[in-house]
Amino acid sequence: MHASSRDKMRRFVDQHLAQRRDQALVVHDLGSQDVNGSYRDLFDAPRWRYVGMDMVAGDNVDLVLKTPYTWREVASNSVDVVVSGQALEHVRYMWITLLEVARILKPGGVCCLIAPSSGPEHRYPVDCWRFYPDGMDTLARFAQLDALEVSTQWVPEGYPDGSDAWQDSVLICRKPDHGPWWNTKSALKRWFQHRSMTQGLVDVPVAPAFPAAAPLVAPPPMAPVRTEPAAPSGATPPPLEQCYFYHTVQLPTGQTMRGQWDLRPAVGAYLGNVDFAGRSVLEVGPASGFLTFHMEAAGAAVTALEPPMEHLWDVAPSPEFDVIAWRRAFHHAILRVRNSFQHLHHLHNSQARLIVDHLETLPVTTGPFDVGVLASVLLHCRSPFSVMEHLARHVTDTIIVTEPYDENLGELPVCRLLPDPAVKQADTWWALTPTFVVRSLELLGFSQSQLSIHHQLREIDGVMVPMFTVVARRP
Ligand SMILES: C[S@@+](CC[C@H](N)C(=O)[O-])C[C@H]1O[C@@H](n2cnc3c(N)ncnc32)[C@H](O)[C@@H]1O
Repeated sequence: MHASSRDKMRRFVDQHLAQRRDQALVVHDLGSQDVNGSYRDLFDAPRWRYVGMDMVAGDNVDLVLKTPYTWREVASNSVDVVVSGQALEHVRYMWITLLEVARILKPGGVCCLIAPSSGPEHRYPVDCWRFYPDGMDTLARFAQLDALEVSTQWVPEGYPDGSDAWQDSVLICRKPDHGPWWNTKSALKRWFQHRSMTQGLVDVPVAPAFPAAAPLVAPPPMAPVRTEPAAPSGATPPPLEQCYFYHTVQLPTGQTMRGQWDLRPAVGAYLGNVDFAGRSVLEVGPASGFLTFHMEAAGAAVTALEPPMEHLWDVAPSPEFDVIAWRRAFHHAILRVRNSFQHLHHLHNSQARLIVDHLETLPVTTGPFDVGVLASVLLHCRSPFSVMEHLARHVTDTIIVTEPYDENLGELPVCRLLPDPAVKQADTWWALTPTFVVRSLELLGFSQSQLSIHHQLREIDGVMVPMFTVVARRP
């Protein structure tokens, strides 16, 4: 949830609900899952009841809807306020959803919908639409709602988090109340519209987002620890619909698969501009393998290492955190990420090896390697120094470490612990300073370091994120 969207919702609350703070109001938020923030606190009044609705279980979700088009879970005329932000663009047949918004609103109930008119594609898990004022007005008319306000933020307002990129549109509307006879006639009309549009409707299933929006399914049996080569290129790769791409990649067919990060524009900087020609590389945590295949194309012989599925990632403990549910959802998502690696491995006709093993017990006979790569891995590990130490055992020449850069942490060799009971962070442990990495590698014998700062495109919100890369060599 970017800052400008929250500001728009706050404005709606101030202008349309502030007078009603003492009334009992039921507020439903469509697409409420807390990916990076939510509206919940804006509706924090003693007599208001906020209900977060989403298609998947997760943070800030009170009600999981079976489908976005028929909300059997919510009674007609039962809700005072419906809000939604950054959700409608992800609903394929969103006009049907508008009929459901109108159905559940009480006569006289109000609604605030916020959705982008611009910004990069961000498949969560699909990205179908952008909204202009006339389109918002059309949606209101279609669902027999009275538009009270329609606007688009055409002009940048200087939000530091990149919010301006979305140029969000806002629709504020009211369900008219013209008396029982008119209201019933209107409901009947909507019912016929809804029925004709949903009969035989097939909403194509798509890969879940990674990892937050993965459905909570029973995990398949855990794979035993094993060391294996990646699937030989002749073997059938997992089909695309069973893949989740962590990195944005272009397939040889020309199709672009959008991931969480698009490293393509600045991949050289991300890897410290190291020359990979003729070098052997041990890459820890390749995810979808964009870096693997990039380094291979640059002339490296790459061995990529992922932890066994029963390890998944190091989970940060928290008293109120449901680790079991999280692991289930994450397991499902990680399987799909690994499928994406195998899929790309096949398409690239790659010779890279994928080893599934713990770094700490990886036999030294697997290497040695000229170069070790730890890109966006340390922040997810309980003991970053140990991970560097274990990698160093296998590397004869160069270690590359890339991490997010937080200039507020200053120049000291610092690791800031991120998990906080108020901010549920299951899989991200640390914000590290470049000095912490440089000093650690120095202690491990890699004393000649070069540091660079660069920006990488986080696809899910279009923000250019500052990152640092340390390239450290043995003398
Ligand atoms: C955020 S992704 C980074 C992917 C890729 N290296 C990049 O920079 O875009 C983190 C990767 O680290 C792996 N990983 C997470 N915890 C790990 C651990 N304890 N040991 C080794 N790898 C781990 C994950 O499976 C995943 O592939």
